[in-house]
Amino acid sequence: MQFKRNRIMNLMIVLMGTQIGLNSIVAQPLDTQLVEQGKYLVKIGGCNDCHTPDYLLSGGKTPQKLWLTGSSFGWKGPWGTTYPPNLRLLVQGLTEKQWIERAKNLKTRPPMPWYVLNEMKEEDLRAIYHFIQDMGPGGEPAPQYLPPDIEPTTPYALFPSPPSKKEDNMTK
Ligand code: HEC
Repeated sequence: MQFKRNRIMNLMIVLMGTQIGLNSIVAQPLDTQLVEQGKYLVKIGGCNDCHTPDYLLSGGKTPQKLWLTGSSFGWKGPWGTTYPPNLRLLVQGLTEKQWIERAKNLKTRPPMPWYVLNEMKEEDLRAIYHFIQDMGPGGEPAPQYLPPDIEPTTPYALFPSPPSKKEDNMTK
């Protein structure tokens, strides 16, 4: 009787082990795939162009360890001066669900194409989230937004005022 019980226990342990083994085999490629997809979307979606230091002017040569760490290059226009925030620090504090909610409802000042994030498919937003989480936190917070009457001390690009003043679209 004792012998039999032991055999059953052993069998259960083996089965549990197989189960755990299978789970990790199944989970692993899925995550790697998401991370890779996220990397692709960040690269092709233009996020690095603004949110990564020197990316645009170096022809995309900024090393990946600096990707999405924000930028102190300002964008000045009728809305004031905005700085692309450090998404590596932002995303660390958000759950996947919070990130998706934020992206779906985002509205910012220019030149952030917030309307693109609003329309992005949930699976693509998830992929970007996993890629940023995979890179981990990095860099410093970007400079704070400045109102229109304050002259930035950082380098910046100047947008001319549009012919028709559509300032409703340019303030939060
Ligand atoms: C043309 C430059 C530009 C591009 C391209 C761009 N961003 Fe931005 N982004 C900004 C700026 C500038 C801000 C800050 C706007 C403000 O202060 O109102 C911002 C803000 C954000 C925010 C808001 C952060 C918060 O605190 O909620 C998120 C999220 C974001 N960007 C994600 C992305 C992603 C993801 C991509 C790629 C799909 C991207 N951005 C592409 C310039 C850009």
